[in-house]
Amino acid sequence: MAERTLIIIKPDGIQRQVAGQIISRLERRGFKLVGAKFLHITVELANELYSVHHGKPFLNGLVKFISSSPSLVMVWEADGIIEIFRKMMGATFGCNAETGTIRGDFSCGKRFNLVHGSDSPESAAREIRFFFKPDELVNYDLTNAHWICGVND
Ligand code: RTP
Ligand code: MG
Repeated sequence: MAERTLIIIKPDGIQRQVAGQIISRLERRGFKLVGAKFLHITVELANELYSVHHGKPFLNGLVKFISSSPSLVMVWEADGIIEIFRKMMGATFGCNAETGTIRGDFSCGKRFNLVHGSDSPESAAREIRFFFKPDELVNYDLTNAHWICGVND
């Protein structure tokens, strides 16, 4: 099975109605969607999701932002997807992110940065488990997979 990552379109992405444009980029890159949930992340869930940031000065603001309105939580699959999607997201703050990245094309501020992507295989496994039961992830073949990955020998 190819690598999987957790991608969240955060409250600003939903409220600004750019979720479709962000998903288009994932599809265009050839990633495969294997799970999705539209939900309001509670303060409790947000605290657990961002437990690595406990003790940091921005945690409260981050939790308030993430729990302020619904998010679209998804699992996508492709070889090397964790690193590829981190590049597609761009630097943490829109004001520093390169043009051509999601954050660099859709934002110019700081905390309101539209998307979350797991930062390592360990984080991806933890975050996917956090939102999805195993049977909520759908196994299927993309009919054009051969044309996306090509023949590399
Ligand atoms: P994410 O976890 O959301 O994918 O973003 P990231 O890896 O690029 O950034 P990370 O360092 O994990 O920070 C998590 C989220 O916290 C907010 N943040 N605010 N100094 C601040 O005010 C500050 N630093 C980080 C951002 O919303 C960031 O996405
Ligand atoms: Mg992070």
